[in-house]
Amino acid sequence: MAEWGGKTVGFIAVHSRWYDWQEDLVGEIHELAVDKGYQKKDIGKTLIEKALDYLKSRGRKRITLWVGERNDRAIKIYERMGFIKLYQWGIWVRMILYA
Ligand SMILES: CC(C)(COP(=O)(O)OP(=O)(O)OC[C@H]1O[C@@H](n2cnc3c(N)ncnc32)[C@H](O)[C@@H]1OP(=O)(O)O)[C@@H](O)C(=O)NCCC(=O)NCCS
Repeated sequence: MAEWGGKTVGFIAVHSRWYDWQEDLVGEIHELAVDKGYQKKDIGKTLIEKALDYLKSRGRKRITLWVGERNDRAIKIYERMGFIKLYQWGIWVRMILYA
């Protein structure tokens, strides 16, 4: 959870032992959201960094997530942090980071 002045303004949810249909054991980022009024303050980036630290500390070498194909903002943030696109399923893009 991310807090700002005592208020919860964002969260990230991850799983350190996730098995997806095309990959073996990975660390998965399931959810990420920042309150609209608190976006563009590096909160999202900080949440992702914390999640990556946690998943790496659990020994995960591959970290994955699904993102909507039209979610350019999130895709750009993930790409800047080292994620690359793996494949697409319907409107959903699978991304991976090799830690
Ligand atoms: C995606 C999301 C979590 C980003 O959170 P955030 O706190 O605004 O992101 P940050 O402030 O950490 O921004 C990280 C980078 O993206 C840029 N950025 C953020 N919002 C942007 C916007 N609206 N337009 C352009 N650039 C933007 C920042 O400038 C920053 O760039 P930098 O790394 O060069 O400094 C937030 O927009 C959100 O909650 N979106 C709705 C839910 C969602 O799409 N979740 C992801 C599902 S996979």
